[in-house]
Amino acid sequence: MNDHAPRRVAVLGSTGSIGRQALEVIKANRDVLSVVALVAGTDEDTLTSQARAFGVTRFGLGSGAAEEIAQLDDVDVVLNAVVGAAGLRASIAALEAGKVLALANKESLVAGGEICTQAAARGGGSIVPVDSEHAALFQCLSVQGSPVVSLVLTASGGPFRTRGDVANVTVEEALAHPTWSMGPKITVDSATLMNKGLEVIEAHHLFGFAYDDIDVVVHPQSVVHAAVRCADGTMVMQAAPPDMRLPIQAALTWPFPAAGVTSTIDLAEIGQLTFEPVEGSRFPSLALAYEAGRVGGSMPAVLNAANEEAVKAFLAERIGFADIPRIVADVMEAHDVTDVPSLEAVESADRVARQQTRRIIEQRVGVTS
Ligand SMILES: NC(=O)c1ccc[n+]([C@@H]2O[C@H](COP(=O)([O-])OP(=O)(O)OC[C@H]3O[C@@H](n4cnc5c(N)ncnc54)[C@H](OP(=O)(O)O)[C@@H]3O)[C@@H](O)[C@H]2O)c1
Repeated sequence: MNDHAPRRVAVLGSTGSIGRQALEVIKANRDVLSVVALVAGTDEDTLTSQARAFGVTRFGLGSGAAEEIAQLDDVDVVLNAVVGAAGLRASIAALEAGKVLALANKESLVAGGEICTQAAARGGGSIVPVDSEHAALFQCLSVQGSPVVSLVLTASGGPFRTRGDVANVTVEEALAHPTWSMGPKITVDSATLMNKGLEVIEAHHLFGFAYDDIDVVVHPQSVVHAAVRCADGTMVMQAAPPDMRLPIQAALTWPFPAAGVTSTIDLAEIGQLTFEPVEGSRFPSLALAYEAGRVGGSMPAVLNAANEEAVKAFLAERIGFADIPRIVADVMEAHDVTDVPSLEAVESADRVARQQTRRIIEQRVGVTS
């Protein structure tokens, strides 16, 4: 990459966990990467100090700014690290404008997988995954050999992997992830395993595998991020330290290799890598996500919207941890599935599901207070 001018990156969600790490990666790779635009949700102070530090003149707040900046002519790579379906329009804009979309915002693909794929086909954009499991699959799938027949995503199991009763879990406990340091919404999603469910849907859209051919296995050390099963009975696994700067760097510099931002793993020091099945009865969110993916149409957008609202209510201490999957299940059950051929249709399903979720939450809060 050294023979070329640095690749111009727009960081959407620059004030968040992924956004901040992305700026570190860009700083460490100044010969090949430069940041030219920044977007945050509401944190104006951090955004302006980032803009000053990186000499960026184009920056803004909110989904509208993200959508606008994602299609600027002098942007080569759009890193979408906005949290939630609020990032969907920016993903579509980037793909329609022919950009490389380095995608952390998995909710874009969950809510609007088909329309993102269509936008890429129309505009010539391409998606490079930032999520560590999908970055790992991307790498495994590039290995030449026997054809790949199915995918395996690993899950750390979150803070409640071995805890029997999750009824009285506190927000603080749910935010204490054992292996990753992340934003609050994805940390709660990791504790319910909804995050893994969203990733299964994301993998379906990114790699075109059927839901029956995408499995999840618990791997508490978070060293092996994903694996592929091949037709000849072999498996290819990807292992790396649990450090998001690695997949961020790989996505921003793709398809060129860049120097490592972290040291590699020492297998002898790790000693043991263990794997165990997911206890489905303790983590109902995962089954809900598989169900939404298989039903298709508007259901994944509804699953995602209901989950976002329920997680928000849990973080505000309005509902309990175990209420999250119950509420999502209720909203999905009440939903009449429709096709979502357009962005407007996805946004309408999302809006109705959020209203319904808030209503259910109000009823529950009313009953328990
Ligand atoms: N963190 C990880 O390790 C990790 C790993 C894999 C995938 N991901 C995915 O990456 C995405 C970001 O996660 P995160 O952990 O970095 O979240 P986070 O720390 O909560 O950061 C979210 C970012 O999105 C911005 N934002 C929120 N609403 C916005 C809006 N309407 N318009 C524009 N920007 C908006 C926030 O701005 P303010 O600060 O102003 O609110 C912040 O910069 C999520 O989709 C997550 O699932 C994260």
